[in-house]
Amino acid sequence: MNPNLIIDSSYIAAAFLFIYGLKRMSSPVTARSGIVVAGWGMAVAVAASFLYVFGVSEEARPHLWVNVGLAVVALGVGLGWAWISGKRVAMTAMPQMVAIYNGLGGGSAALIAAVELLGGHATGVVEQVVTVVGGLIGSVSFAGSVIAWAKLDGRINKTWRIKGQQLLNGTVMLATLAVGLYIVFGAQGHAPAGVVILFFAGALVFGVLMTMPIGGADMPVVISLYNAFTGLAVGMEGFVLQNPALMIAGMVVGSAGTLLTLLMAKAMNRSVSNVIFSNFGATGDEDQGDIKGSMKPAEAGDAAVQMRYASKVIFAPGYGLAVAQAQHKLYEFVKLLQDKGVEVKFAIHPVAGRMPGHMNVLLAEAGVPYDIIFDMEDINQEFATADVAVVVGANDTVNPAARTNKSSPIYGMPILNVDQARQVYVIKRGQGKGYSGVENELFFRDNCNLVYGDAQKVMMAMVQAVKELGE
Ligand code: TAP
Repeated sequence: MNPNLIIDSSYIAAAFLFIYGLKRMSSPVTARSGIVVAGWGMAVAVAASFLYVFGVSEEARPHLWVNVGLAVVALGVGLGWAWISGKRVAMTAMPQMVAIYNGLGGGSAALIAAVELLGGHATGVVEQVVTVVGGLIGSVSFAGSVIAWAKLDGRINKTWRIKGQQLLNGTVMLATLAVGLYIVFGAQGHAPAGVVILFFAGALVFGVLMTMPIGGADMPVVISLYNAFTGLAVGMEGFVLQNPALMIAGMVVGSAGTLLTLLMAKAMNRSVSNVIFSNFGATGDEDQGDIKGSMKPAEAGDAAVQMRYASKVIFAPGYGLAVAQAQHKLYEFVKLLQDKGVEVKFAIHPVAGRMPGHMNVLLAEAGVPYDIIFDMEDINQEFATADVAVVVGANDTVNPAARTNKSSPIYGMPILNVDQARQVYVIKRGQGKGYSGVENELFFRDNCNLVYGDAQKVMMAMVQAVKELGE
């Protein structure tokens, strides 16, 4: 049988598995198997690419063993690194890992473009334009994702901005585009190595400059935007290589990433351009607003007893729930309340935690039934009728400054209306701020008390207190 036919059919099969896997990921019930299906798709695509090295391509035949050696080393390093880091990563560090892996995809697309341009392989204007644009987007995605990773990992100061940032970014972008135009129309795809390197350096610098000023609560939108960029870049380089698996997978990731970006931006009440450009030139000195009142501590046991005798309690989980891994204890407490006839619901903010669906994943892991978990827009009007709202390790997503303080980096973001409940309890360890770094005026309100401690320990104390009450 013609080996090229085996390779092409394998790529189509891989693309089918990617799409089917993605489809299954759209529901929490089938998501786990969706990951496995897409993983098999990737295994098929890698195997087909490996076959390609085995001299099936005319061009590759003279360098067979060098190519086989390189492919084995690349596979070994890639598989080894992914396996070890995947096994070791903590659930709370997952978003950083996703950001960096996504960036590596963009970087790979950029490397393909670099090889094509440095080797003068891209013939024809269309091919050259696609190579250059894919290289540009891939490089921006790589550099931007590395910065996003460093920010999420707490390695970079989240609000790094300089005066005249917008002008600097625009200049770097225009200069890079000019070099790209020269590569295609001036040098007809045969530009000297120095010019090609300059082009990629410009794109990388632009990716860094574009991401550094973005912080606050806008990071999820940026990460998802780079996800879309990577897909687009991979799809474009797939076109250049005439590789159907790369083309289809790239387009699937590109379109899914674009949809996710738009949804996240909508959830944050921002336009994508607002996220990317609004912070340019800002000073970074956010006004914390006019906060009155004091923070009033409460004992876990007292809060639990009040909930035991309440009619309706709504829980608003956030990033701290993931840090404490308190989801199982939380659900144990919820079941106790339900046994006593309390109506309990969960309110999920679209960017609670550090990745899309973070809270849903945690609650599903603990076995919380889906019918008591509600999206923000479906439950927000119910807080006014709740006896108690319990904020479990959330902060930015319940900060009323988003409604009132125009200088706040989270201004305009819709929040969970926990402050409208008769009594609010906030479970947190100390005086830590949220991801955006702004003070939360909710904590100072008259109807709010703080239950200090690690969320898991607090939930254990609450379970204990309700059990001790007996019937
Ligand atoms: P955050 O605003 O990040 O606040 C988390 C709170 O949890 C902090 O106040 C912290 O206070 C507390 N905490 C930490 N560890 C805890 C523990 N072990 N036990 C109890 N409390 C603990 O959380 P959020 O409300 O979920 O908001 C998410 C933020 O992340 C938003 O700004 C969002 O834009 C951003 N973000 C989201 C995503 C996605 S896609 N979801 C991605 C990137 C960034 P203490 O230190 O005092 O305990």
